[in-house]
Amino acid sequence: MDRRQMESAIAGVVRCLGASLKNLGLYPTTHPLVRTPVEKCHLELAPFFADRAELALTVSDGTLVLEGVPIFQLTSSLELFMARLGAIGLPAVIFERGVSVEDIELFVRFLHETKEQGLPIPEIKSRLARWGVTHIRVTATDEEEEDDFSLAREIYGNALNVVVRALKDVRNGKTPDGAESDRAVREMSGMVSRNRDAMLALTLIKNFDEYTYNHSVNVSVLSLAVAETLGLSETERIGVGVAGLLHDVGKTQLALDLIRKPGTLTVEEFEEIKKHPEEGFAILGKMTHIQESTRAVVREHHMRFDRTGYPRPEPEYRVNPYSHVIAVADCYDALTTMRSYQKARTPLQALEIMKKLSGKSLDPDLVELMERSLGIYPVGTMVRLSTMEVGVVTGTPDGGKGEPKVAILFDRSGNPLAAPQGVDLKEPDPSSGRPRRMILGTVNPLMHPPVSMSGILQAVSV
Ligand SMILES: [Fe+2]
Ligand SMILES: [Fe+2]
Repeated sequence: MDRRQMESAIAGVVRCLGASLKNLGLYPTTHPLVRTPVEKCHLELAPFFADRAELALTVSDGTLVLEGVPIFQLTSSLELFMARLGAIGLPAVIFERGVSVEDIELFVRFLHETKEQGLPIPEIKSRLARWGVTHIRVTATDEEEEDDFSLAREIYGNALNVVVRALKDVRNGKTPDGAESDRAVREMSGMVSRNRDAMLALTLIKNFDEYTYNHSVNVSVLSLAVAETLGLSETERIGVGVAGLLHDVGKTQLALDLIRKPGTLTVEEFEEIKKHPEEGFAILGKMTHIQESTRAVVREHHMRFDRTGYPRPEPEYRVNPYSHVIAVADCYDALTTMRSYQKARTPLQALEIMKKLSGKSLDPDLVELMERSLGIYPVGTMVRLSTMEVGVVTGTPDGGKGEPKVAILFDRSGNPLAAPQGVDLKEPDPSSGRPRRMILGTVNPLMHPPVSMSGILQAVSV
């Protein structure tokens, strides 16, 4: 196929998709006017896969782009198709070799029935997976995902610097720059939408000495993930994320040795700690670019779901629901962090503990949502495979269905590998055709030498 033939063939494909989409608004799914264009589209796609494994269509500035070259043969059905992609927030449609008539049909129905605008990519991916669409993707190839890890690291590092600067400013009696926090959170929010795993994986980097800094960024990232699963608007998500980033900013008013004190606090010391939400509220009040609700959330982040925390709310006081989002993220990050007086829990153990707190100090709906946002095996969980090898989860499956990504760290005899080895759990065993490796369950990470999650991620993503 030369370029012109390709262009007109692709225009044909899109025209068919558009026609089917348009007719879905008028006729039932089984009607020939809906079904026939889908079949035609399937036929038109076939020649492309003679010499390629996938075909990528992207929409850029309202123009349909095929493999980097814009297509201008516009028709009304083509325009309708693009308008739907744009409205839902689909950046691209990638047809893979092996795409079936059913895939196309379901995809068209997805475009027709999805009424929300500007959905985040992970949400689109998970819905398509739920609908059972298998050979049509909406973003990024694996190579691009590798880049996401470096990008996520850069964004995380930047947010960390913002927190360090903000706390230093407060300590020096200066008001931190709110625009900086706002910008850092916007970047993280964008990255959470683009590749949640890449961003969430970084929350497992625990730096004991710099606990407050990493903790602040982690709580922000975790809150952003929950906020996205909740389907909050962008402004609300940013507000929640900034609250996460600055929730403990009031602790800078406390003596450093009090913040770092191992073990139990005396009554007087605890009274001091209890002041930090109000201190934070006061600091945020002086900063620019801070939403009013963000301030409230910082003041309320220890009030607890059952209102038994501090500062103790009056009976008629209405707690901002997003304060409970920060509380859940705060709890998860604290539990999964090793401190001098507490060993780090695994992500699953942390979720178990949080489920016990559900309905008491934590909002039960949010605990459940948190679990869903993190996947069944959250990134960082150590797992034993059917081969008796031990690995660590490095990524969750799209939409929570299917197998997570795993890197093997120890062979079947328990000896550490020279380098972590990323494995595909879908890879079949040549003799039986069944998957070669399956997850048997989680293992206690304390049974194995400590591992650096960031090192592993770096090793498997290059
Ligand atoms: Fe706090
Ligand atoms: Fe905290």
